Amino acid sequence: MVIKKTKKIGDDFLWGASTSAYQVEGANLIDGKGPSVQDVKKVPEGTSELDVCADFYHRYKEDIALMAEMGFRTFRFSVAWSRILPKGAGEVNPKGIAFYNNVIDECLKYGIEPLITMFHFDLPQALEEQGGWSRRGIIDDFVNFAKVMYENFGDRVKYWLTINEQNMLTLAGEVIGTCNLQGVENKYKKLYQENHHMLLAQAKAMKLCHDMLPGAKIGPAPNISLVYPATCKPKDVLAAQNFNAIRNWLYLDMAVYGEYNHLVWHFLEEHDAVPDIEPGDMDIMKEGHPDFIGFNYYSTATVEWDASEGEATLGDQQSGAAEPGVFRGYANPNLLRTEFGWEIDPDGFRATMREMYSRYRLPMIVTENGLGAYDKLEADGKIHDDYRIEYLRRHIEQIKLAVSEGVEMMGYCPWSAIDLISTHEGMVKRYGFIYVNRDEFDLKDMARYRKDSFYWYKKVIETNAEEL
Ligand code: BG6
Repeated sequence: MVIKKTKKIGDDFLWGASTSAYQVEGANLIDGKGPSVQDVKKVPEGTSELDVCADFYHRYKEDIALMAEMGFRTFRFSVAWSRILPKGAGEVNPKGIAFYNNVIDECLKYGIEPLITMFHFDLPQALEEQGGWSRRGIIDDFVNFAKVMYENFGDRVKYWLTINEQNMLTLAGEVIGTCNLQGVENKYKKLYQENHHMLLAQAKAMKLCHDMLPGAKIGPAPNISLVYPATCKPKDVLAAQNFNAIRNWLYLDMAVYGEYNHLVWHFLEEHDAVPDIEPGDMDIMKEGHPDFIGFNYYSTATVEWDASEGEATLGDQQSGAAEPGVFRGYANPNLLRTEFGWEIDPDGFRATMREMYSRYRLPMIVTENGLGAYDKLEADGKIHDDYRIEYLRRHIEQIKLAVSEGVEMMGYCPWSAIDLISTHEGMVKRYGFIYVNRDEFDLKDMARYRKDSFYWYKKVIETNAEEL
């Protein structure tokens, strides 16, 4: 509907931005940190290793001060599992605990609420070598990791996210470097068994959070893109429902209702890939209730009916997927694209928020949203990223409209607070409000510069988005 009466965003709205440990921290093997799968993966050709990144590990004070200057009310960052438990389980690394304590305290010094993602694509390599998420014992390892965090940080951290983009770990793990399916006979069986273990780990961690930290709030953080049918042909609508279920609802139906999505279940039956479920598993799923939903949104997806047979096509987080017999990706002719080929769809953002809210009725926080681009540092130290301002402005407008329509939104944390390394497209794909002076391979001086979007976002926060 066309909205004439816009409601104001609440004063307690959590404005901020996001990062993840393996993409921003650097210092990947120092001070006792064990390697993660990201440290041993072969990075895509032409992209940087992940050993230095934005060097947040050594520069967090300067970076958090800049976030405070923008007026952040929250900062979403992840804890590197292998920094605090170098082997994923067993001995705790005191230097890792100290680092995150410092980051948390630095945030609180400025009144910034830490929003911690427990796990963001960086499984400890030691656990990977024991079978990764395929081994059932990893559920207890994750719960132990959660417990260590609750014990050490829970006195100050009120907001927690379980697993970043569990749906992308399942659907695009090969692209983001979290799984290797070479030689696997039935990849669906493996991936959805791993997914089942992650869902159990998440449910247990949510329950433990409520038991140990009664004042805290916890939720999942999948990547949600509403899926459109390419046309109004009924079969295209069925294809869109298929991909919506596989990409989006499986994860949220389970997190919120503790139930497997029936369309996905059927898809798994068709592929001889239903996960092994042990007695009691579904009770555990039902016991883990999220207090809110965190979700990453970059764009919608569009698909058409596909009755062919054959191999699935692998996409990245936002593009290219096709599953013969289920759906085929379709380039939406109504949308512009970023320089890196991701579609841009602010209206679809509102459609996604509306759909999620009517399905789950929980408050929501946007844990990622943003534009990857080749930014240019000018001779005068400025970065004119008007394209990013335009992208963010148009998405924040949609939050205001969704809020006016009754959707409960708690906060907005675009990707990313500061430039960092992309999952598979290197340092040149920048997202930050803060520019980091390094190139793909030349580390230069790593100095920080405020982009135009930095000043713009500061104003947005100051006026609670009344001035966009
Ligand atoms: C999300 C991830 O998929 O998108 C982030 O949670 C990632 O880790 C972000 O960086 C942007 O994707 P990319 O591939 O451009 O880095």
